[in-house]
Order: sequence, then structure tokens, then C-alpha cells
Amino acid sequence: MQCVSQIEPRVTWLRMHLMKESNKHTHWSRKAVVYQIYPRSFKDTEGDGIGDLKGIIDKLDYLNDGTDASLGVTAIWLNPIYKSPMKDFGYDIADYREIDLIFGNMDTFDQLVTEAHKRDIKIIMDFVPNHTSSEHPWFQESRKSNTNPKRDWYIWKDPKPGGSAPNNWLSVFGGSAWTLDKVTGQYYMHSFLSDQPDLNWRNKEVRDEMADVLEFWLKKGVDGFRTDAVYHLIKDDQFRDDPPNPNYDSSRDEPYNALLHLYSQGRPELIGIANTLCNILGEHNADTFMVSEAYLGLPQMMELYKACGNSLHAPFNFNLISLPWNAAAFKKFIDEYETKLGENDWPNYTLGNHDRSRLATRLGQNRARLAAMLQFTLRGMPFVYYGDELGMEDVSIPADSITDPWGNNVPGFGVGRDPERTPMHWDASPNAGFTSVVPWLPVASDYKKKNVEQESRDPNSMLSFYKELIHYRTNSPALLTGFYKPLESGNENVFMFMRECPAEKLIVGINFSNSEQTTSVSVNGTLFCNTRRGKRGGEKIQTTQLKLNPYEGLVAKLNQ
Ligand code: GLC
Repeated sequence: MQCVSQIEPRVTWLRMHLMKESNKHTHWSRKAVVYQIYPRSFKDTEGDGIGDLKGIIDKLDYLNDGTDASLGVTAIWLNPIYKSPMKDFGYDIADYREIDLIFGNMDTFDQLVTEAHKRDIKIIMDFVPNHTSSEHPWFQESRKSNTNPKRDWYIWKDPKPGGSAPNNWLSVFGGSAWTLDKVTGQYYMHSFLSDQPDLNWRNKEVRDEMADVLEFWLKKGVDGFRTDAVYHLIKDDQFRDDPPNPNYDSSRDEPYNALLHLYSQGRPELIGIANTLCNILGEHNADTFMVSEAYLGLPQMMELYKACGNSLHAPFNFNLISLPWNAAAFKKFIDEYETKLGENDWPNYTLGNHDRSRLATRLGQNRARLAAMLQFTLRGMPFVYYGDELGMEDVSIPADSITDPWGNNVPGFGVGRDPERTPMHWDASPNAGFTSVVPWLPVASDYKKKNVEQESRDPNSMLSFYKELIHYRTNSPALLTGFYKPLESGNENVFMFMRECPAEKLIVGINFSNSEQTTSVSVNGTLFCNTRRGKRGGEKIQTTQLKLNPYEGLVAKLNQ
């Protein structure tokens, strides 16, 4: 077995350096607004109640038709569409180089890439390197015998004397992370379902094979990857027990949180792996980008930024999802993030995804608008989860209809993810125009009010607000390339900052409270965008103490 830290970078330092220098300001990621599509729930054209690739192609003009009537996003990230038994809805891959028949085939995929690129929309694929499906031929081989050439591609261990699991590691989706395989009498490790055995990233053949998978999709013309569960990639080489979590409260916390996952994830060798993955992209084409999934605080995020040391990678920033709703907490986090980022590091902000309760459910519609304004006015890459632009909310699913394995295995802790994965609302027709048959998850009951067709006609809708923000951003040099300057608002309920470049100076003010607030900030300029008053761009603002209405956010262009 080769030690991970000995992996050689795949490109020379000089080449990477030259690429960094020429690329870092013009790279597409610097102007990107990424829209996450959960393909099962976007648009069904085949009449099976499940979304498909053809449906995504049909709706590309909604995402960006080159005019400000469309949403204006510049990249889409697709949750997994590979061949899969769908035990974890595609995160259990049985062939990394095939499209699952539920979604279409490789021809439809190629057509999607062509059509998206025609509209200047980049394609980001989900890359799932930590585990395969137990139905993947590699695992089928691996489990045959202790001496099978693919045995070491997965993590196999003998039982403890007495027959129990090799150590106390837990699966995120409930129970032990080890399953006994009767064929050879050994346990295999799985960070998630037992149907998702973890690959052994200490094995060079595995690393080479996964590099080849990335190359395969890059050659097909994709523009980047969202890398799944990176923090799980490397486990302790001595398989030490994870220590108990002293803050665990079994009445409140799901069982997975009973341990601190010091040895089952996030080991130091991860940095070398992350570096290798980024370099594969850089070597292929400097016009690609990778974003890694890990729920981390700032110190660990910064380590992952440094691991790659190039401008083509960022760890996801999920912190705005979990921060308490108050101006001071947001200011503290964002100021610190901005201070810590290196010159080549590109920030990003996510407000929701397929694993977390929806934005408008967590915050309510008013606050969701404020959060969106923040997301599009801060520096970096905004990630928008499909339907959040309509103000879609979680749909409660009766216990006997839950489809998510996490929700089924760990009931009672609100971890089920069906509520945020329900079908997109296109119009007021039956099933919200998503499908002509019964959809795989129920459509929200408010779809007749909240849908694309309806909201496109209403200038005060959430959709019109998103369009406005995205188009302001796309056309504003300060929002796209300006630096972030923290401001003291003089009011604990108001978060304010500036975005500046030589051509333009903008000030952003967000009132986190439901009452009127007065700041100590003087503003002399023109209103650019506002959460509460609909489109009123152009109005003059001249005040020595900016006042904000309840839950009001505004962007103003300052007189130079
Ligand atoms: C990531 C995905 C999640 C999936 C898990 C296992 O966290 O976002 O949806 O279930 O990995 O692959």
C-alpha cells in the first residue's frame, strides 16, 4: 500500500503558477452564479414521475436565455445522474461512466452540454469519490475473496475477537459503519449506507481510476465538479476508536453525534488527496473548477483552500445555513472569512441544498429575501438551490411515505431530506407542470401561487427579486470584481458593508430585525436595489443616518 502523503503533484509548479497568474481574474468561476438542479425533481418529460435530462434541456431558457427575462445563472450543478440502484438517489454509483436510464442516455447528456454551452451555461458534475454502490462491479469483485485483485479497493477488516465490528465508527445514516460480509467473514466499512461501501483511497489503483473518471467527464466537455463527502475520503490508518462527544444529548442529537469523528474522517492525509484532485483539473484545462463538499468551520475550510493552492478549487461554505439569524454573527463570520482568504482563494456562499431544510422554511419569506440579497452582493460564487428562487418551502412527508434512507433509518431527529427535494413548480396546472403522472415526491400545496409562470408576471415576487439581483450583479463591476470593505453600522441589528472597484462604489445594508432601525452611516447616492419596495432603482438617497424599514435590505450606488 502506498502512503498517501507521497503522491506526486501531477503538474509542475511552474505550469500551475503560470496558469494561476493568467487565469485568476478572468476565470468563469469569478463571474458565476451556480444553480443546483436536483434532476429527479426538475422536469419530467418521459411521464414516469421522475425528472430527466431532456426536462433540463427544455428548461435551459428559463435559466438563461441571454435576456433579463430569464434567471440569468451561468452554471448548473447536477446531482448525480450516473447508473445507480438509487438506494441513496444516485449517490450510490454502479458505473461512473454511464448515465442512469431514469435520466436518459449519453446522447441526451451530450446534447445537454451543447445546449447549455450555447447559452453560456457551464456544467458542473457531482463527483462521488468516497464510495460506490455495493452493486458496482468493483465491489462485486472485491467481496469475492480475500485475495481478489480488487480486495484492497475497499476497506476490509477482521472482526474483533468475539465477532464484533473492528471498531466503534458510526455510519452517518445510522448504526455501525461496518457490515459483516458472510462470504469472507470480514467487515467492510461504509460511511453512509451499507449499500455504499467506502473506497480505499490509500490504494493507488483506486486513485488512478478516479483520476481517469474525472478525465472522462472533462473530455466530454464538462466545466467542473462538485466533490461529494471529501472529508470522509481518508480514515485513520490504525483504525482507532472515535472518542465520545462530551456534549452529546441523546434526547436532542441524532446517534451519529454521540462520537467525535476524529479518526473516521478528516485525517491529515486528506490534504494530499485534495491537492491531487485539484491538479488533475489544472492539468486537463485551466478553465475548470472544483468545489468540495464538507461542512466545516473557517480553520478547516482554510486548510482545504491551501491544500489546492490554486484558484480552481474552493471548499463549500455552508456556514450561512447554520449561523444564528443576527447581524453580529453574520458580520463576524463574513469579515473573518474575507480576512483569511488568500489572494487566489475564491469565496462562495450557499443558502440551501438537497441535504438541508429549504431557505424559506428555515428563515421565512422576508428573511429569505435578505439572505438572497446578501448572497448576491457578497464577493464570490453564489449557489442557488432549485426552487429557492420561487420561495419554495419544505413539504412534510407522512412517515409511511418517506423515501430518503437517512429519514427512514434515523427517525425522530428531522434528518429526512424528502421535504426539500419535492418537484419544481413550473405553473398552476396539475402537479405544478412537473409531470403528467403521479410525481415521485408530492408537490407542495402552495404551488398554484408560487410557480414560475405566476411569479414571472408579478414584479414583487421572489422570482422577480432573484432575477433583479442576479442581473444587477452581472452588470455591476463592483459586485463582480470589487473588494469587500467591512463597515460599522452603529446598530446591532444592521449588517453593512461596501463593495468597491475603481469604477463603482456600492453600499449594502441589511436590517435583520422586524422593526425600523437607524444606523450611523451617511449615504449620498442612488438606490440600486431594495428588498421591500419592489423595483425602485434610481431613487436618490441623501442622509447622514441611513434608516431601514423592518426586514429591509438595500444596495445603493455612492456618488464618487
Ligand atoms: C453527500 C450528499 C448527500 C449524500 C451523501 C452520501 O453528503 O450531499 O446527499 O447522501 O453525500 O453520498
